[in-house]
Amino acid sequence: MSAKFCHVISVVNQKGGVGKTTTALNLASALAMRGKKVLLMDLDSQCNATTGIGVKRELIKRTTYDILVNGGSIGSATLTTVLPTMWIVPGSLDLAAVDVELAATEGREYILAQALKGHKSYDYIIIDCPPSLGLLTVNSLVASDSVIVPVQCEFFALEGLVNLVNTMRMVQRNLNSALGICGILLTMVDSRSRLTREVSQEIRREFGPRVFSTTISRNVKLPEAVSYGVPVALYDPKSSGAIAYASLAGEVIEKPISAMI
Ligand SMILES: Nc1ncnc2c1ncn2[C@@H]1O[C@H](COP(=O)(O)OP(=O)(O)O)[C@@H](O)[C@H]1O
Ligand SMILES: [Mg+2]
Repeated sequence: MSAKFCHVISVVNQKGGVGKTTTALNLASALAMRGKKVLLMDLDSQCNATTGIGVKRELIKRTTYDILVNGGSIGSATLTTVLPTMWIVPGSLDLAAVDVELAATEGREYILAQALKGHKSYDYIIIDCPPSLGLLTVNSLVASDSVIVPVQCEFFALEGLVNLVNTMRMVQRNLNSALGICGILLTMVDSRSRLTREVSQEIRREFGPRVFSTTISRNVKLPEAVSYGVPVALYDPKSSGAIAYASLAGEVIEKPISAMI
């Protein structure tokens, strides 16, 4: 019997507002709707993935903070979601202090990777990262097989990518040699805008096949679904946002992991 492969993916970009959380929760949902067993982890102190998937505050007992700082187990923090094959480990406001609290802890970069070791019965573990390149994101990269980098097609989109690529290279060299790239995802695309076209062409020139064919257009159904706490696939299955994330899920399932840049 061959061992089942659990694909751990960090959704990462140190810029805020580029579509990380929207991508993490709607990709996780789209994979779950294809029957995959998926765990979504919220590593951002803003907890937008947790509220965006409809987790009620009263139900939260343990969070990713407890796993990182208090030695809590993944199992004890895992909650069910509206989808039968999707689970979530919620985030916490306390995550904002993790960099400082773990500053003197030996092996602090490996805590999440260690915690995930016994939990590979999932097909996919999708980690929503905070908008920084600090210890939370490093823990996520060390625990991951690959990264998805959402990029908003605007000026300076490429400048931020240089720092991110340097961090990913540092992690790959020193902490997790197996880290690869699942794909770069163009988000909030406005196909009528010249800027969108120019920036997306530049990114495709630079990163070639590492860029997903699927792009995510601007679609008001995506923020609306988040505000109701349901995946867009359930909120409005015919919306362009739902169709785009379903297509992304197909690509993630089919596309081989690329080597680090
Ligand atoms: N494709 C999209 N179309 C319209 N609004 C979007 C889209 N993707 C994200 N948004 C909205 O943009 C804001 C930032 O997105 P979010 O996913 O929270 O980014 P991040 O996690 O990188 O900070 C949110 O209000 C979100 O609902
Ligand atoms: Mg976010």
